[in-house]
Amino acid sequence: MDTTNTSNDTEAYSPAGSWDVYFASGRRFRPPTPSELANLEPHTGQGRRRILDIGCGTGTLTGILHASGHDVTGLDFSPEAIRQALADHPGPGYVLADADQDGPGGLGALAGPYDLIVCRLVVAFITDLHRFMRRASSLLADDGHLYVMTPIAEELPPERRSHAQTRAQIAALAASWTESSVREIEDHAHLTLSGLYRPVTGTSTRR
Ligand SMILES: C[S@@+](CC[C@H](N)C(=O)[O-])C[C@H]1O[C@@H](n2cnc3c(N)ncnc32)[C@H](O)[C@@H]1O
Repeated sequence: MDTTNTSNDTEAYSPAGSWDVYFASGRRFRPPTPSELANLEPHTGQGRRRILDIGCGTGTLTGILHASGHDVTGLDFSPEAIRQALADHPGPGYVLADADQDGPGGLGALAGPYDLIVCRLVVAFITDLHRFMRRASSLLADDGHLYVMTPIAEELPPERRSHAQTRAQIAALAASWTESSVREIEDHAHLTLSGLYRPVTGTSTRR
């Protein structure tokens, strides 16, 4: 997505507003593949889980997890994404909130603990990844997992790299959690993170 505001109208630019424009145009992101869902299986396969989908967009994965019998909440800061998610994938709870914020308009609106937090194609857009990870960690159950899927910058053409993480950033993020695993599938990294979050250098800034 191009996050540059190119419209000529007088509305103030906001990141959420640019996502609204994107989703209102009918564009979508690739749906979860069978291998992605298989990666999630260890964390979703044992009975009803409490799951949070941060940056849920139009709710495709949120809806899949809900249809599997889980108690799912999707969070996004784009009103248009939430509107489409409610229309296309009713059933989960949806929260309009900014994952870059801690207060009631942000991740503070949520009450953990969650067994699983999924964050698909979102971390590259988070401004303060340390704060985000600390808050995500505080929302997890003791045996909970944070699942992050992010494009790998080195696998993409230069013009698409700003919305991806480098392998060094991915490794630093994984090293910041006491337990982690990283799997590369095609041009995306799939991280499973759990335990405590103790940031190491290289995870904080947005590219
Ligand atoms: C690339 S889309 C991915 C959507 C969905 N996870 C998927 O896989 O189809 C990124 C999503 O993150 C949301 N997003 C970006 N920054 C956010 C923030 N600070 N707070 C909440 N949502 C955010 C956008 O509105 C958008 O829906």
